[in-house]
Amino acid sequence: MTSNTLIAPSLLAADFARLGEEARAVETAGADWLHLDVMDGHFVPNITFGPLVVKALRPHTKLPLDVHLMIAPCDPYIDAFAEAGADHISIHPESGPNMHRSLQRIRALGKKSGVVLNPATPVESILWVLDLVDIIMVMTVNPGFGGQAFIASQLPKIALLRQAIDASGHDIRLQIDGGVTAQTARSCLDAGADVLVAGSAVYGKPDYAAAIAAIRTAS
Ligand code: DX5
Ligand code: ZN
Repeated sequence: MTSNTLIAPSLLAADFARLGEEARAVETAGADWLHLDVMDGHFVPNITFGPLVVKALRPHTKLPLDVHLMIAPCDPYIDAFAEAGADHISIHPESGPNMHRSLQRIRALGKKSGVVLNPATPVESILWVLDLVDIIMVMTVNPGFGGQAFIASQLPKIALLRQAIDASGHDIRLQIDGGVTAQTARSCLDAGADVLVAGSAVYGKPDYAAAIAAIRTAS
């Protein structure tokens, strides 16, 4: 792995009765970001939590809070997540009528902005907003649930995005979300990714430090 690779455990796979403790635990275990999956039961077929929970978590960790919005419409809630303490706010192109405006708003709030590509969403959908994003995330599962199998057909998409980012000259992180394990991490990084989200591969293991180390070692 390159020393540049970041690991972002997803709290979706944590014990929801002990979220503060679970956030602190992965920080101690060597995580780089804390990934927070916000789902509305409409954009995706599952419901998790909103800005109140992000705000409640904020004092528990110094890790950057990497908020992944799977809600539609996303625009009415961007300010609330920024005020709650999100450091990164990532949105799907399909979750609002004007992605360019949504990304501008995230940046205007002083947050890092991200766009997320579902498995069926083409690379071309974000080529004209590269100047407005700090993070591009590729879903390697269909969003909505943890513990799903890695969709390997997305690897060429990751490689295409790596080329586009490098050609753009912008400082953009290329993040992968879904089915990342110590086994699948290597192929993501080989394709050009530099941030790995891992839910069940961290929180689903008894020893979080060993789980994070296993992903780092494999990658
Ligand atoms: C899925 C979420 C993911 C999820 C990943 O919609 O966006 O962040 O937590 O879970 P694993 O790593 O178990 O696939
Ligand atoms: Zn996610």
